[in-house]
Amino acid sequence: TKENLKICCIGAGYVGGPTCAVIAYKCPTVTVTIVDLNEDRIAAWNSDNLPIYEPGLDDVVFACRGRNLFFSSEVDQAIQEADLIFVSVNTPTKKSGIGAGFAADLAYVESATRRIAQVATSSKIVIEKSTVPCRTAESMRAILEANSRDGIRFDILSNPEFLAEGTAIPDLMYPDRVLIGSLQTPEGIKAQNVLADVYANWVPKEKIITMGLWSSELSKLAANALLAQRISSINALSAICEATGADVDEVAYACGLDSRIGPKFLKASVGFGGSCFQKDILNLVYLSESLHLPEVAEYWKQVVTMNEYQKSRFLERIVKRLFNTLTNKNLAVFGFAFKKNTGDTRESAAITLVKHFIQEKANIHIYDPKVEDAQIEMDLCEPGIATPEQYKKSVTIFHDPYEAAKNADAIVVLTEWDEFKTLDYQRVYNNMHKPAFIFDGRLFLDTKKLQNIGFQVEVIGRQV
Ligand code: NAD
Ligand code: UDX
Repeated sequence: TKENLKICCIGAGYVGGPTCAVIAYKCPTVTVTIVDLNEDRIAAWNSDNLPIYEPGLDDVVFACRGRNLFFSSEVDQAIQEADLIFVSVNTPTKKSGIGAGFAADLAYVESATRRIAQVATSSKIVIEKSTVPCRTAESMRAILEANSRDGIRFDILSNPEFLAEGTAIPDLMYPDRVLIGSLQTPEGIKAQNVLADVYANWVPKEKIITMGLWSSELSKLAANALLAQRISSINALSAICEATGADVDEVAYACGLDSRIGPKFLKASVGFGGSCFQKDILNLVYLSESLHLPEVAEYWKQVVTMNEYQKSRFLERIVKRLFNTLTNKNLAVFGFAFKKNTGDTRESAAITLVKHFIQEKANIHIYDPKVEDAQIEMDLCEPGIATPEQYKKSVTIFHDPYEAAKNADAIVVLTEWDEFKTLDYQRVYNNMHKPAFIFDGRLFLDTKKLQNIGFQVEVIGRQV
């Protein structure tokens, strides 16, 4: 790495924060400044209480913050000082206008790009870190070039991020691969090498792969689509298992032993959540439609349709087993995050399920070890989920699972937090209404043990 290299990251979110903190940690001679327009978020990054929960993140940040890692809301200054600029802003699904509900909203990427063009006083390598539709780098390049002044050069790279939340730090420390896309021109390849040298401080050379910009951009959408497709496939099979008496875990195990299939990402569940899978598939659907490939669009759309079906199937099973009515029943919801080891709730299956529990007039007791109370309230009071009045009437948040389950008719497990495996379920059972139900949306509790205590157990992908 060049001596005294300076890196700026625009966007201090789930990706920008951990990614650039690990760069600072692994490259002590590089100065990394992570900036965001959201001053509260920056203040939190500068405090003892980081704005996101991610195992191992505190150690990394506390080891280099103030040394070669800085968090700031002085966006312009950080841009001016940097050699390399990561653009790691949010790219949510568009809510209105052309492509609403499918296309990515690129307004944040564009505004960050324009800011770079406007304030830069020296040449920069601009790195697209956000997940974007194919050919966004070209738009960024057009904006940068149209606005650049004499003697200032902008090179653009695509460097999509493959970390998963909950395992971000190990994913970043030991990535399966680092992908860098660039224009295949001498300048493009030179820029590619500068970034590759940064990663080479800790990533084996053979894992740093380079290719053209568009392949790199599309690879990110493709990887997420393929991963989500595996989950929808196993979830589709879980419905067959429930109807036939086969066990989806056994089917997944048998299939996963085939080295061509592999064992990972075949765990049936109440449905995938998270900020990426649905958004990126819808993005791919929109891209396919724009390219006049309706059959391709329809194919990928099914992955999302199946995911919605999985959630509604689970809901129907709950209502049916609870004697076809949830009115005034007490439901303990265990887990609100979209997966374990994160406080993130974006697209969490819990939001959809609780929305329907509210509509069915149940009393809902939510417990999650990491999600903030305010986050749960914000998610459930979104338009289309519940009104603040409905929320107040129906939902109570607990900080103790035993309290949440007290006087409950049923427990609905929606996140696979480890601690749910080791609760004293006899104690839980004793304080519940009878018959006491457990609906395991993650297929990870000890069904036999629960049945021996007296629970009525329902598991996805298995008849009990
Ligand atoms: P996020 O919402 O947590 O963070 C984005 C941050 O960018 C926000 O704090 C926002 O205030 C800031 N921002 C927006 N516009 C800005 C601007 N013009 N100047 C300065 N700051 C600005 O989002 P995230 O989860 O970190 O995702 C970022 C990107 O990475 C998305 O494109 C996403 O698809 C992609 N991605 C996410 C994950 C994941 O696990 N979350 C994984 C891989 C890729
Ligand atoms: C995903 C991709 O894995 C990551 O590479 C990309 O950079 C961002 O999107 P993330 O959404 O953070 O990461 O978590 P992931 O572990 O992929 O889980 C997504 C959802 O799928 C979760 O709700 C999880 O519970 C669910 N899931 C995952 C299953 O239901 N079954 C599985 O076998 C795996």
